[in-house]
Amino acid sequence: PPLSEILNLHDFEAIARQVMNEKAWAYYSSAADDEITVRENHAAYHRIWFRPRILRNVTKVDWSTKILGHSSSMPLYITATALGKLGHPDGELNLTRAAAKHSVIQMIPTLASCAFDEIVDAAQPGQVQFLQLYVNKERKITQQFVEHAEKRGIKGLFITVDAPQLGRREKDMRQKFEAEEPDEMNRNNEKADRSQGAARAISSFIDPGLCWDDLKWFKSITTMPLILKGVQCWEDALEAYDHGMAGVVLSNHGGRQLDFARSGIEVLVEVVEKLGEKRGLKFPNEKFQLFVDGGVRRATDVIKAVALGATAVGVGRPFLYAFSSYGPEGVDKALQILQDEFEMNMRLLGAPTIKDITREMVDASCIHTH
Ligand code: FNR
Repeated sequence: PPLSEILNLHDFEAIARQVMNEKAWAYYSSAADDEITVRENHAAYHRIWFRPRILRNVTKVDWSTKILGHSSSMPLYITATALGKLGHPDGELNLTRAAAKHSVIQMIPTLASCAFDEIVDAAQPGQVQFLQLYVNKERKITQQFVEHAEKRGIKGLFITVDAPQLGRREKDMRQKFEAEEPDEMNRNNEKADRSQGAARAISSFIDPGLCWDDLKWFKSITTMPLILKGVQCWEDALEAYDHGMAGVVLSNHGGRQLDFARSGIEVLVEVVEKLGEKRGLKFPNEKFQLFVDGGVRRATDVIKAVALGATAVGVGRPFLYAFSSYGPEGVDKALQILQDEFEMNMRLLGAPTIKDITREMVDASCIHTH
């Protein structure tokens, strides 16, 4: 169907399933084990309800915000997803171009199909990009990569902490991995096992020995803000804060790691409560920013996360499906759909700006904290 018939982010998934090749579909759509967490990621949003306010002059609404101090047209960024060329020959560049057009931030994955420098070079002057980091067992390789990224102007380093071993994504494991290997960080990965899917083939360099003590080292090699991606309980969010991180992403890796991990939006509630209690923090907080990803498909999902204290949310698969089906225009359309949804839903909620989205505007009483 023509792009004009696409009405929401779910539509891209339905079309991608039909037009993508089997390998790419298996890699993008797969999740761990019985895929319970990936289902829950989106379902969790369905249990949170709005308490809209009326008569608040919503002639003009503005949903722009700041993420780690950088302007963004929406409280949303394009999160890191590996192997963009499985879905489209231009891979991650599709995301870079659409991100520029909509003034949103792209997080570049360590395991991008395009070369890191190619993705940075494709950015417009002033366009902000973050980097997702998988930490190599060979720390020198990681150090060089991080230092290079900082020199190239990357504005935030998101260290993935939920993948000491790759989850079992059985849909993907049934496929043999023959596609092009990602450019960066993978050069020392000579023993890649290609018999069990894309994820396994590309991930054997990741260090399962990574621990809290290593964060000091990261602080010594870069001045970029450090964010831990894949925090799943308030105790670890508190550790991250005490270790001087700039924030955390409450995420279960799109359901691709530990099955039965809770959704990020659910974890958000306990993190806000406990960090308030234990460190007197109020959210959203500029010094320690909370991000959520997983299952975000509507502006209303984003608004719920913001109401509960998140600075912004990450969106992954919908953009992959968008460029796999329609190339760069697909991603542009996906972002435009979200912009339009923001405009309408901010009006209906009675929130003219992001600051007007308050905790009282959602009923999240279904979520119990720990
Ligand atoms: C991911 N994700 C991911 N995360 C990460 O830290 N490093 C990576 O290389 C990847 N690669 C990756 C590939 C694919 C195909 C997917 C779908 C996801 C996880 C990603 O950053 C994010 O946590 C989830 O994708 C968010 O969930 P949704 O929006 O896809 O539901």
